[in-house]
Formats: sequence, C-alpha cells, structure tokens
Amino acid sequence: MTDSQSAKPLHVDNVIKTYQQGTSKVHALDGVSLTVEPGEFVAIMGASGSGKSTLLHAMAGLIDVDGGSVTIAGQDLSELADGPLTRFRRDNLGIVFQAYNLIPSLTAEANIRLPAPKSMGREVDATVDQLLARLGMTERRTHKPGALSGGEQQRIAIARALICNPAILLADEPTGSLDSVSGTQICELLRALVDEQHRSIVMVTHEPHVAMWADRICVLKDGTNLAEIQTDGTRDPQTVARQYQETLGGEVVA
Ligand SMILES: Nc1ncnc2c1ncn2[C@@H]1O[C@H](COP(=O)(O)OP(=O)(O)OP(=O)(O)O)[C@@H](O)[C@H]1O
Ligand SMILES: [Mg+2]
Repeated sequence: MTDSQSAKPLHVDNVIKTYQQGTSKVHALDGVSLTVEPGEFVAIMGASGSGKSTLLHAMAGLIDVDGGSVTIAGQDLSELADGPLTRFRRDNLGIVFQAYNLIPSLTAEANIRLPAPKSMGREVDATVDQLLARLGMTERRTHKPGALSGGEQQRIAIARALICNPAILLADEPTGSLDSVSGTQICELLRALVDEQHRSIVMVTHEPHVAMWADRICVLKDGTNLAEIQTDGTRDPQTVARQYQETLGGEVVA
C-alpha cells in the first residue's frame, strides 16, 4: 500500500442504533465511541447481544445509524448516497464474516476477483497471484469452495476482501467456524497484514486466544463502551481471559 492509502483513521463517535422489536426498542448501540489509527489491530469483545456485529456493520456503512457518526479518512459515511458509499466502501474497506460468504459455483480465484472494478484492468491478475501466494493458496486457485477446508475458505474470503487494497479490514468472528489450528493461522495472517502492510483491522471475537492477537481490546456491554484492555503484545490467552473476566466482573460488582 502507498502511504496515502494507509493513512486512514477510523472514528466512531457516540454512535446510536436502535431497533424496534415488536412493541419494544432494543438499544443495540447506545453511544459507542472508538478510534482506530492506521496500522492498529483492535479486537471487539462482549457478551452475545452486546452490539459487536452492529458496531462492525455501522463501521462498514452497512446500516444507517440513528445518532453519532462514523468517519473514515475524514469522510462521514452518513453524508454519502448509496452509490458513492458503495464505491467508498470498496476502495477503503475489506469485510470478512464468520460464514465466509463465498459463491459456491465459482472457483477460489473467481471469488477473489469478484469485487474488483473493471478499472483495475490487468492489474487484477497480478494482485490475485500475489494474494494467493501470500495466503498459501496458489495450489488451490481452481478449487471451488466446497472442495476447500474451512480455513482455506476463510483465506479466500480474506483475499477477496483485500483485492481492492483497502487500508482497513473489518472482520466479524473470522475464526468462529474454524478449529483452533486453522483459527490460529487466520490470526497470524491478520496480524501479518497489520505488521507487514500497515493495514488497520477491527475484529469481533468471543475468544481470548483470538483477541490476544490484537493491540487492544474494546469491550462492549449493552451497546456501550465498558472497558479497554491493552494486550501489550504478550499473546497470552490466560492473561487476556483473566483481564476480560475482571472487566465484566468489575461491572457486575459496580
Ligand atoms: N436487524 C435487527 N433487528 C432487530 N434487532 C436487532 C437487529 N440486529 C441486531 N439486533 C439486536 O441488537 C442487539 C445487538 O445485536 P448484535 O448482533 O450487534 O450483537 P452481538 O454482540 O454481535 O452478538 P453475538 O455475539 O451473538 O453475535 C441484540 O439485542 C439484537 O437482538
Ligand atoms: Mg455478532
């Protein structure tokens, strides 16, 4: 990435998102704020229903927020109409989900190419080759998703998210469907994208041994910021698990 591409901070400022469920309102996000600097790896943890996926979707501009703002590289997402927002998302963000969301009838390589705009021209060929090599998937390029393991499918989904060279990668439980060995490989890969390529990553996870790969952990509770944990690069799952439990426990006592 060039320096200008990588210099894209992400600011979430006091974001509110309320859903109507029957006669009651659910405050999925109730004033969450978070800044992610270029080259930072941030994990989001919190109990089920605490608003993690909603926050990620708000960061991606996939949902309209009811209050506050999401600003990426100085651009407030709410100011963009649908078409410009789609292009802005394509140029700045890569998104990875737990369920991979690959197209079953397409080969691995064709899945990776899918988001690339025509304007990329022949450059897309070289980029696909580089991504397949970087992810150790060159031998699997003609396989369809059904003939790939879960970890391999997730690597293809990550390659697809990177095809337009986004500065920021958003991942919702990217290891949630994987065994621990494949999950660790995905974590190592995400860490390398930050360390070697200076991308920013925001990753939702339930698991301390996944969150430990991040630089810091933002803990949500009931749609609000509960705490922030600095991992200090120790990568010790027990320490992260203890700190996370203390965070939740501290709140219960308070
Ligand atoms: N489209 C929707 N319509 C109505 N309510 C929703 C919708 N999306 C999320 N919610 C509600 O908002 C709250 C937060 O949901 P969210 O999916 O962000 O939680 P989460 O932290 O990602 O949980 P999990 O760990 O189970 O994935 C939940 O109470 C959920 O039921
Ligand atoms: Mg979720």
